[in-house]
Parts: sequence; structure tokens; C-alpha cells
Amino acid sequence: MKKYRNVLIAIVVLFLLAGTGCARQQPADDTSASTEGPQLELTLEELASYDGKDGNPAYIAVDGVIYDVSGSSKWTDGEHNGYSAGQDLTETIKGKSPHGVSVLSRMPVVGKIVE
Ligand code: HEM
Repeated sequence: MKKYRNVLIAIVVLFLLAGTGCARQQPADDTSASTEGPQLELTLEELASYDGKDGNPAYIAVDGVIYDVSGSSKWTDGEHNGYSAGQDLTETIKGKSPHGVSVLSRMPVVGKIVE
């Protein structure tokens, strides 16, 4: 009888362990990534209206990716060190800015440039 009791306890312990294992699993769809959400597809012509002026959002494009700089204190009214939002600034950020493309990782991605 004692032998059966030990087997029963072992089964109960196994169930408990399996239960905590499941509870620790991460949810499958982690929505924390900044690239989540509907992505815009804009031509360069359409991008031009996202200039940060008259209440428009301020978007810039680099390597075909559109970033939203509206929330940046460095891009007030869509202007930054003589450059304006609403354009593809790939050449400028790579060739002329002191910081290069590394600052872009702080900006939300909102879409991509299409033909
Ligand atoms: C000669 C031209 C430029 C100068 C002197 C300049 C200077 C700066 C400085 C001093 C900062 C703040 C320090 C930092 O975050 O590293 C900054 C931030 C930034 N710059 Fe420029 N920049 C220039 C051109 C550009 C261009 C062409 C772009 C866009 C393609 C750009 C995009 C940004 C972004 C996205 C930030 C981060 C803003 C934030 O974190 O709120 N910059 N820039």
C-alpha cells in the first residue's frame, strides 16, 4: 500500500511541475517591437506633405524606411540643423551629419518608400 502512495505522490508532483512550467511560458505574440502597427507606403512625392508644418507630422526617409521625427525636440516644426522633414535624407545623414544613422534607432518606423 505504501508503494502505491509513493507512486501517487510522484504523479501529483509531476503534474504540479508541469503546471508551473506552462505558467512560465511567454505569450507567443510579443507586441513590444517599435515596428508594429499599420505601415505606410508613400512615394517621395507623398512624403513631401509630411513636413512637420501646419500640424502635419514630420517624417523623414533613410534607405527607403520612413521614420517619424514629430516627437523629437531636435526636429521642431520639421526643421533640424538646416534640414527639413518630408524628404529622403539618406545622403545627408550619412555624408554630412555628425551622428550618422545610429540616431534613427530612437525614432519610430512608420512605413516605407514605394515607387
Ligand atoms: C549637419 C547636419 C546635422 C547636424 C549638425 C546634426 C546634429 C544633431 C545633434 C547634435 C543631435 C543630438 C545628438 C544626438 O542625438 O546624437 C542630432 C540628433 C538627431 N539627428 Fe541630426 N544633425 C544633422 C543632420 C541630420 C540629418 C540629415 C538627419 C536625418 C536624416 C538627422 C536626424 C537626427 C535624428 C533622428 C536625431 C535624434 C533626435 C532625438 O533623439 O530626438 N540629423 N542631430
